[in-house]
Amino acid sequence: MKKAFIFDLDGVIVDTAKFHYLAWRNLAKGINFDFTEEQNEQFKGVSRVRSLEILLDMANYTATQEEKDVWLVQKNIEYLSYIQKMDQSEILPDVPRVLEYLITKDQGIALGSASKNARPILERVALIGKFQVIVDGNDVTTAKPDPEVFVNGAEALPPDPQHCIVFEDSIAGIQAANTAGMISIGIGDPKVLHEADHVFKDFTQLSNDFLDSLIQN
Ligand code: BG6
Ligand code: MG
Repeated sequence: MKKAFIFDLDGVIVDTAKFHYLAWRNLAKGINFDFTEEQNEQFKGVSRVRSLEILLDMANYTATQEEKDVWLVQKNIEYLSYIQKMDQSEILPDVPRVLEYLITKDQGIALGSASKNARPILERVALIGKFQVIVDGNDVTTAKPDPEVFVNGAEALPPDPQHCIVFEDSIAGIQAANTAGMISIGIGDPKVLHEADHVFKDFTQLSNDFLDSLIQN
């Protein structure tokens, strides 16, 4: 059976979640706020604009629109400086194996990412050609946990939502997949991603037999 496998990008395909964290932490330092990795969980899957709002709330800082505009640009410039140095070593373990297996099984493969930098990142790590559909932060009006990014991905592929499988490392992304009526697979810590239908520490724990069971059921 043909299913649609929709992959988040940051923290699922490539190890870029750490770069987002570093850039937000540096920005937080500028307003004397110590931004922790635990707090960063709430930022995963969340748009750039919304992330800044959450950060300012956490720091209890009331910013002017001008400050916000400057900081959004500043955060992205720092983030871009990290991703410009990226190469294929930033691809997370066993992602190529899973992609290749799904391609040999003639499955639908899509990207569903909140990031406006998704395409240049996929180009840098030479994976862009593996995706039949790319829906990113430039294509949506509402951010995760709203399901728009996955629903758009699914509409461009043959199957209905119940035949879509979403790989996500963020709480917001798992909630988006669940709201869309898709199968949600968390990649990361089961304690953080407990709302997912299945959770794996990383793709090395996810076997081809498990992929077969998703394709067949
Ligand atoms: C998501 C990340 O994939 O993209 C978030 O998990 C990030 O941390 C969001 O804020 C937007 O990314 P960008 O690259 O457009 O700032
Ligand atoms: Mg992510």
